[in-house]
Amino acid sequence: MRILVTGGCGFIGSNFVRQVLETRKTWDIVNLDSLTYAGNPENLADVEKNPRYTFKRGSITDGTLVDELVKTGFDSIVNFAAESHVDRSLYGPTEFVQTNLQGTVNLLEAAKRHGVQRFLQISTDEVYGSLPPEGFFSEKTPLHPNNPYSSTKAAADMMVQAYSHTFNLPALITRSSNNYGPYQYPEKFIPLFASNALEGKKVPLYGDGMHIRDWLHVEDNCRGVLAALEKGKTGQVYNLGGGNERPNVVVAKAILKHVGAPVSLIEFVKDRPGHDRRYAIDCKKAKKELGWTPKIKFEKGLKATLDWYKANATWVSRVRSGEYRTYYEKHYGDGLAGAADRQSTPVLRRKP
Ligand code: NAD
Ligand code: TYD
Repeated sequence: MRILVTGGCGFIGSNFVRQVLETRKTWDIVNLDSLTYAGNPENLADVEKNPRYTFKRGSITDGTLVDELVKTGFDSIVNFAAESHVDRSLYGPTEFVQTNLQGTVNLLEAAKRHGVQRFLQISTDEVYGSLPPEGFFSEKTPLHPNNPYSSTKAAADMMVQAYSHTFNLPALITRSSNNYGPYQYPEKFIPLFASNALEGKKVPLYGDGMHIRDWLHVEDNCRGVLAALEKGKTGQVYNLGGGNERPNVVVAKAILKHVGAPVSLIEFVKDRPGHDRRYAIDCKKAKKELGWTPKIKFEKGLKATLDWYKANATWVSRVRSGEYRTYYEKHYGDGLAGAADRQSTPVLRRKP
């Protein structure tokens, strides 16, 4: 089994690569990642000498590169590569369209041309939009994305379904809820709050803090992705959720409590425009058809995650200072690290 993983230097992709290398001893992985600000090859430092792991730097937006790579022969493609941060999509949607939509189409086209037997698109519950206080997203919920990030993910999902339906490409989709765990870039809610709180800095809670997310530990998500890859049916969508709905303010207080920081660090700030109020996932289908169920209880997983950020303060400070950008050059040595083709700021500069 030879699989192409895209975006493997990001948060979920790096956890997935590690899990596959550990649990599927006969699989070879090629990781294609362009190393945007969110891509950090240091996340996979522990596996980079594994002979079953190869890293290739390149963008899924480059159709020729994608075609030439896919031509070398893969059983499966798992597409994690994306611009993934909603706040960034509000200020600059173009890269989201290029990577999330055009990049996915490039991969689909190459998969079709070169007879790839499995194409797994990593999507998100955000494509369904926002829920009222009651109800859950099922795979049959109509798509109703509300922001540029989720709109590009929904558009990509539709192209995946079009390739499956029209060209019989053996493609399928997982849509997970919000992930948390080690190696998440510290611009997202949990790692931002954890790393700020550990340094005694304020944590910016949007609006009234009563927006609800359904938290799924990244290792549970990766096990679900693997189950879909091995057992999922072509043309299908599988929702993966943690069953851990929490208002943001509750998560914020739990983070502060665990790291021993005062609640007064919470700063209520102007709400994100178009902020989805509630996400919650019905994942009965994945349980029934894939035999998948999340294993990690939120309170336990959150504590372990916070302990990880505490123990890996150097990882956080290297990301925040931009120092992590030198890793590629030092370890893969093509002189490109830090070059102008890398995307701008390591940590999002908020608009005032
Ligand atoms: P991330 O931002 O941490 O990582 C994205 C990775 O993709 C980075 O390594 C980046 O360098 C790479 N990348 C970006 N553009 C690329 C391009 N053009 N070509 C090649 N590589 C490129 O994201 P994440 O949180 O790990 O999310 C991974 C996937 O899971 C995304 O598709 C996202 O939409 C989806 N998802 C994430 C969550 C979540 O809570 N993080 C929830 C549901 C779904
Ligand atoms: P985020 O991690 O950006 O994920 P998403 O928007 O994709 O769900 O945010 C999770 C929740 O936390 C979301 O409701 C927005 C909120 N949030 C804050 O309150 N403050 C912050 O600084 C960030 C980044 C997010």
